[in-house]
Amino acid sequence: MASVHASTHPLVLHKLTILRDKNTEPRKFRELVREISTLLTYEATADLMTEPKEVDTPMGKAKGRATKENIGLVPILRAGLGMVDGVWDLLPDAQVWHIGLYRDEKTLQPVQYYNKLPTLPTVGVCLVLDPMLATGGSAVATVTILKDWGVKKIKYVGIIGAPEGIQHLSRAHPDVPIFLGAIDDHLNEIGHIVPGLGDAGDRQFGTG
Ligand code: PRP
Repeated sequence: MASVHASTHPLVLHKLTILRDKNTEPRKFRELVREISTLLTYEATADLMTEPKEVDTPMGKAKGRATKENIGLVPILRAGLGMVDGVWDLLPDAQVWHIGLYRDEKTLQPVQYYNKLPTLPTVGVCLVLDPMLATGGSAVATVTILKDWGVKKIKYVGIIGAPEGIQHLSRAHPDVPIFLGAIDDHLNEIGHIVPGLGDAGDRQFGTG
């Protein structure tokens, strides 16, 4: 099984509570998605590889370290888009490779509609970004696409996960650690996370 990390950071818990509130307007919702994404990225990148780097300070030489892996952010359209800026705040040089998937409302299966990955991988580490891990179908499909592309190290960063989705993703890809803001109770009969926050795409883009 994959490692599953649900944040216990007080700022994540605080911001997540406002995010869930049905009265939170799209502007505030987007701001919170961005901020929570930054905080989760801090947690998800704790094991990034570094290499020695020496710099000149005004007082002399200092031995430091620099991150050494090429990082790719992979937002799952649409809802993952809102997480990108928050992750970029910490990883400004990360490449962004979009994957377009929507969940068929009847079958709940992911349907791919956008993928412009080049033939060979250009990054060593990918962070898959999607606020919602519901059945896990979208996450499993995206990780499979990235593995087929040749990416060796993949992490999933989401805001809310249902136990069903966590189990699906970790069984399909046990090597992919899962970083979440919260693990919720269950999925309802139409595949929505309960208590959740509604539809993260609609709430960000004002389309609900
Ligand atoms: C939602 C969400 C995830 C997916 C999660 O997207 O943003 O991508 O469903 O469900 P799953 O774990 O069962 O696959 P949706 O299909 O509503 O598309 P959208 O982001 O374009 O609104």
